[in-house]
Amino acid sequence: MNENIIELKGLTKRYGYGDTESFALKDFDLTIKRGEFIMIMGPSGCGKTTLLNIIGLLDRATSGEYTLNGEDVAGISARRQARLRAKKIGFIFQNFNLIQDLSALENVALPLVYINQPRTVRLKNASEALRRFHLQEKEYYLPSQLSGGQQQRAAIARAIVSDPEIILADEPTGNLDSRSSNIVMEELKAIHEEGNTIIMVTHNPALTVYATRVINMLDGQIDTDVKTVADHNLPQPIEVKVKKRKHRSRRKK
Ligand SMILES: Nc1ncnc2c1ncn2[C@@H]1O[C@H](COP(=O)(O)OP(=O)(O)OP(=O)(O)O)[C@@H](O)[C@H]1O
Ligand SMILES: [Mg+2]
Repeated sequence: MNENIIELKGLTKRYGYGDTESFALKDFDLTIKRGEFIMIMGPSGCGKTTLLNIIGLLDRATSGEYTLNGEDVAGISARRQARLRAKKIGFIFQNFNLIQDLSALENVALPLVYINQPRTVRLKNASEALRRFHLQEKEYYLPSQLSGGQQQRAAIARAIVSDPEIILADEPTGNLDSRSSNIVMEELKAIHEEGNTIIMVTHNPALTVYATRVINMLDGQIDTDVKTVADHNLPQPIEVKVKKRKHRSRRKK
């Protein structure tokens, strides 16, 4: 059975004090197993982006517990958060967030700076990631020279280039036509089947067919939480599969 990769307990995010006090998240509990593909839905302002940013260590909760891979990360330093983020988490945004004056290749290579890969290795890995998303011929294009769908595929290449275990996507198909949206979803599906954990915010109910669990939020809390795939049927991380295979072949001898 896949282990818990993320545990949130009593998470609260408060903005303002006194009369202006409001809660983006209120006493929020959520346990996520490795290999889940979670879709988060809910009305505008219910706290979806806030939740994703806290899980992605881009933002901090006002109070509550956050355990990532068994480690308490709620109170760790910003520096340590940044290091963990670079190693474990890939982000995909609605507006792609590519740096406009860097080529697709340089954009995809960027996260590898934070895990200290030398430049030649970075460019080689970035080029491979772009090839996976059929963008190898556009390596030297600037984001403005790519279509929306191509920009988002470059952004997905950037999110997975450092081989993170968790992919966070905030309305990744929100700015795409249905054809590009389908391509992006098929790519995310393939990444999920490799055993990665994906948490995606969407306003499009049709996309929930890709999810193993659908969470509806309301006013900073979970309204409904439905698993469509049993925990024991979640994809296993690839290393585990390889280890199991080795084990089996040893037994045969
Ligand atoms: N910096 C801030 N200061 C004050 N309130 C904020 C701040 N950031 C977010 N909020 C509030 O927190 C609540 C949750 O915002 P959040 O961006 O998480 O919503 P969302 O569910 O992602 O909405 P959408 O679907 O429109 O993207 C909103 O009421 C918002 O106004
Ligand atoms: Mg949002």
